[in-house]
Amino acid sequence: MIELTINGEAHALDVAPEMPLLWAVRDTLGLVGTKFGCGKGLCGACTMHLDGNAIRSCITPLAAAAGRAVTTIEGLSADGEHVVQQAWVSEEVPQCGYCQPGQIMSAAAFLRQNPNPTDEEIWAGMQNLCRCGTYLRIFKAIKTAAERGA
Ligand code: FES
Repeated sequence: MIELTINGEAHALDVAPEMPLLWAVRDTLGLVGTKFGCGKGLCGACTMHLDGNAIRSCITPLAAAAGRAVTTIEGLSADGEHVVQQAWVSEEVPQCGYCQPGQIMSAAAFLRQNPNPTDEEIWAGMQNLCRCGTYLRIFKAIKTAAERGA
């Protein structure tokens, strides 16, 4: 049994400790907002927060999250009102949308650590891949979120 907090709720999951956090969250809890992309921790589609820091949940064993706080895209805000989510709406960022939960979670963690980033810091700090090439809109949305006080 692995005990952890997910989106503010305590859970005890009876699954193998080496199961990737992504699988545990999607398959046992039904929180499917976080996506599977490459499975190797490279693309960032699976980004969640662990104690507030962005992590690649496809390569994070559930045991590494034991006793810690996990936040998924479903838990970032109750109703999509997080400043980063609102900036994403304003800038109409998504195309197909597949990568976007991970992009938003990465951006939220990035802005929490660096609320007033330079352009260079945004380009360097955002490493998630987008097959649709929405990078410029992601950049603009992060600027917007920072201006609104992310
Ligand atoms: Fe399609 Fe990013 S919006 S992969």
